[in-house]
Amino acid sequence: MSVREEFDDWATSGKDRGMEDRHWHTAKHVLARMPVEDGDAVLDLGTGSGYALRALRERGIGRGYGLDGAPEMTRNARSYTDDDAIGFLVGDFDDLPLADDSLDHIFSMEAFYYAADPHTTLQEVRRVLKSGGTFYCAVNFFEESESTHAWQENISIEMTLWSRAQYREAFREAGLYVAEQDAVPDRVIEIPDATAFPTEGYETREAMVDRYRTWGTLLTVGVAP
Ligand SMILES: C[S@@+](CC[C@H](N)C(=O)[O-])C[C@H]1O[C@@H](n2cnc3c(N)ncnc32)[C@H](O)[C@@H]1O
Repeated sequence: MSVREEFDDWATSGKDRGMEDRHWHTAKHVLARMPVEDGDAVLDLGTGSGYALRALRERGIGRGYGLDGAPEMTRNARSYTDDDAIGFLVGDFDDLPLADDSLDHIFSMEAFYYAADPHTTLQEVRRVLKSGGTFYCAVNFFEESESTHAWQENISIEMTLWSRAQYREAFREAGLYVAEQDAVPDRVIEIPDATAFPTEGYETREAMVDRYRTWGTLLTVGVAP
């Protein structure tokens, strides 16, 4: 199944809003760290419902581009806002339909690891960022967060499972400085007491604590020289 087929299906079944609800717990902390200024141009890579750009517009960015490979995602995202300063584009991570040196910042939540070639995606990120521009790349699926590894079994698209060190190394290889890397915990999700386990998703309470409180979302921040 292609990105388009898989995620169009998610959009038409309402999963785009479901993702927004779940991801917001940690995405809001990542967005709060972004050094956006009035008038900035920002790309949201794998925008889903487009919530990140709606939030960043409240902080004064001038232009938001929400890119997604699934047309139904962009159609839904467009319907959730009447803000003309936010545009939604259908496109692929490995061939960004944007000019060189055209963006102040790029945000991406729970999307980067779906890239067919994540190294090409990073080169594209580097290409479209202005000097001093940042890439805030947030993922929940990564090597150290072991209970996320099983997610690959539920999706037909091949997912890239990198460690924290591999993210840093790949950013540097693409010509980005690594300004920060952090695990942003999800403190909102409720974790039941030990008697509730095993649950559908977790064998033990420790595994659920590891997933949400220890690791949560891995944030890697790249800066264009
Ligand atoms: C798990 S969703 C996350 C959506 C949103 N960022 C959020 O936090 O809820 C991943 C999104 O990335 C998009 N996507 C995945 N691979 C892509 C690719 N190679 N090119 C463009 N979009 C892609 C999907 O269509 C989907 O909307």
